[in-house]
Amino acid sequence: MSVISRIIGTGSFVPKKFVTNHDLELMVETSEEWITTRTGIRERRICVNESTSEIASKAGRAALEAAGVSPQEIDLVIVATVTPDMSFPSTACFVQSELGIKAGAAAFDVSAACSGFLFALDCADRYVKSGGFSKALVIGVDVFSRLIDWTDRATCVLFGDGAGAVVLSAETGARGILSSHVHSDGSHWNMLYARGHVETNPFEKEEPKEAHLVMQGNDTFKFAVRTMGAAITETLEASGLKTEDIALLIPHQANIRIINAMRERLKLEDDRVFTNIEKYGNTSAGSIPLAFDEAVREGRLKENDIVLFVAFGGGLTWASSAIRW
Ligand code: UT7
Repeated sequence: MSVISRIIGTGSFVPKKFVTNHDLELMVETSEEWITTRTGIRERRICVNESTSEIASKAGRAALEAAGVSPQEIDLVIVATVTPDMSFPSTACFVQSELGIKAGAAAFDVSAACSGFLFALDCADRYVKSGGFSKALVIGVDVFSRLIDWTDRATCVLFGDGAGAVVLSAETGARGILSSHVHSDGSHWNMLYARGHVETNPFEKEEPKEAHLVMQGNDTFKFAVRTMGAAITETLEASGLKTEDIALLIPHQANIRIINAMRERLKLEDDRVFTNIEKYGNTSAGSIPLAFDEAVREGRLKENDIVLFVAFGGGLTWASSAIRW
């Protein structure tokens, strides 16, 4: 029988500090009304003296506990992030160390911005299905609060920090990842990017460049609606499913208007689309696994339900996958 990657546990973590729209009114020229009506966001969580690997490890530990799997059983750790603690080692290596995952397990990071978790899930699925790896920990995490310009009202109101995780197990039943698709178009890299802190060497003469996140909001919005719609169709077709089969759609939580546009296009009822953007804003790679964990813990899923994930992000990147829960 062929191997399927089943998600046997989920976990998530968000920092304690929350920042409301009213708090932001005191920092930039914005309003509670503008932020809620244009984005659906009411508050977001922000890391205070907490690193990406710390919040990733907390989400990972919760997923291991939910799965009833010990760190010693994990042979693959993939962390999706564009806000790692360091250039190297990878955040996954820090997580491996923090959680006591066995030495010799493979641990590495994946960079695909807000689509990162689905790229990491796709990667782990292929590793598991090809044999040699029986239990994988996949984490999506970002700390965008350290990447954005807190004086730029067009971007600082949109993002928050958070992490989510799943444990995959190599199994032979019908439940698991049914199909998974990842795409990129690097020619539009400048629609959404962050250089980060760029050093020069003594042989270069570089003018300092913008280190913070830069985004063409309107273009990204249109791109998101277009690609996520196409990605859902692709995944449904590849899995032999129809829109009616979707028990729960878990989209990247970037803007409630993007999610509603997609929901209307698919003619999905409200209760078949999971959103938690009002509480966390856009947590980039953390967004889908954080939403998924909440949906699981709220009892929104029953055995054999079809769940669809769909995301888009900087790169540009977009991705989708379908699972039988
Ligand atoms: O994970 C991927 C990350 N990126 C995204 O998902 C972003 C996708 N894009 C969006 O979500 C939306 O384009 C935004 C929420 C970023 C912007 O909403 P919009 O409806 O596209 O607004 P806009 O950019 O067309 O701006 C409308 C107005 C502008 O003023 P004028 O030029 O009409 O006078 C902005 O300056 O709103 C102004 N504005 C604000 N006003 C109050 C922009 N940001 C703010 C703000 N508060 N925070």
